[in-house]
Amino acid sequence: MLRFLAAGESHGQCLTAIVEGLPAGLSIDVEAINRDLARRQGGYGRGKRMEIELDRVEVLAGVIAGKTTGAPVALRIANLDWPNWRERWATGILPALTIPRPGHADYAGMVKYSLDDARPVLERASARETAARVAVGALAKQLLAQLDIKVGSYVTQVGAVEASIPDLPWDELYELAEGSDVRCPDENSAGCMRVLIDAAHENGDSVGGVFIVFATNVPVGLGSHVHWDRRLDARLAAAIMSIPAIKGLEIGPAFANASRYGTQVHDAFYPDGQGGVMRRTNRAGGTEGGMSNGMPIVIRAAVKPIPTTVTPQRSVDLSTGEPAETQYQRSDVCVVPAASAVGEAMVAWVLAEALIEKLGGDSIEEMVR
Ligand SMILES: Cc1cc2nc3c(=O)[nH]c(=O)nc-3n(C[C@H](O)[C@H](O)[C@H](O)COP(=O)(O)O)c2cc1C
Repeated sequence: MLRFLAAGESHGQCLTAIVEGLPAGLSIDVEAINRDLARRQGGYGRGKRMEIELDRVEVLAGVIAGKTTGAPVALRIANLDWPNWRERWATGILPALTIPRPGHADYAGMVKYSLDDARPVLERASARETAARVAVGALAKQLLAQLDIKVGSYVTQVGAVEASIPDLPWDELYELAEGSDVRCPDENSAGCMRVLIDAAHENGDSVGGVFIVFATNVPVGLGSHVHWDRRLDARLAAAIMSIPAIKGLEIGPAFANASRYGTQVHDAFYPDGQGGVMRRTNRAGGTEGGMSNGMPIVIRAAVKPIPTTVTPQRSVDLSTGEPAETQYQRSDVCVVPAASAVGEAMVAWVLAEALIEKLGGDSIEEMVR
């Protein structure tokens, strides 16, 4: 069984994760983890915080001479902003935040944990924690790569700008996205996305959007139809929905399928000439009956505009009960490109888990065999 736990506050000392259940003998490429961390940090529309941080992972346990041993792998990512907070953290002299931001975890977190200050809530609700998930997801990608399974992503929409995505193979779309600071494979649309992000920035506002995560070369039969919590589609959906600010998703063109007839939707089988079957379409998005079906897994996710805006929003000061306006906290304007990198990590994690369930996971040699 593969599992991980992560910890760490946004302005605390560091983020940490322990990954348990990785097979022994997996070569770990630390620079590849750092590249994914940089992809999460980047993207047009990120705020000042990302100018301070330069995320790099330290592997503290579970890897000897560059290979996993089968023991838990411990990871640490330092917060470079920590020296600016250490003193205030130790003395508790932090400005109290009593005006909850609509759309953030502030209000529900304060009520749930009986707090009169939203600081402890936002410290953990902040998407800074997703750096730990991206590092863990990078390990999962390295495991998947041993079986030639690849996970990638690109952005299809920022605010009202919807890209015309060229009809290209997945790896080409991915390469184009890698070369774009909005992770959009269509440069004309990317230009419009930047203009929109600039306008939101100038207006003290934020914008959301849509991204796609795909996984190719996934074998048939990951997940299972036999019980609700083993269904791969459900597990992928939960993993994507767990990313802060993701509020909707579909597997394949699910919402468009909903307005078509069944005969227009389902992906016909054809003989592959080798005694098996092949498909010419992938409207199911790579899963049927809660299992991978051998076609690329395609997930489309909606990112809401982030809650913190320079332009104040109406709220209530919970220390007085009086109407108040939100106070600006250092923040991003658009996180869609970064969220797509987190989406990759979460999809890679779920696939790695399901793969280990199917194949067993004591050693990578055994898994590949
Ligand atoms: C990569 C990433 C960066 C984010 N940065 C910010 C930010 O700077 N300011 C903000 O208010 N929300 C940001 N968010 C979104 C909030 O973390 C999120 O909206 C909040 O925790 C409430 O959770 P919910 O939107 O899932 O309900 C970010 C999300 C992601 C994925």
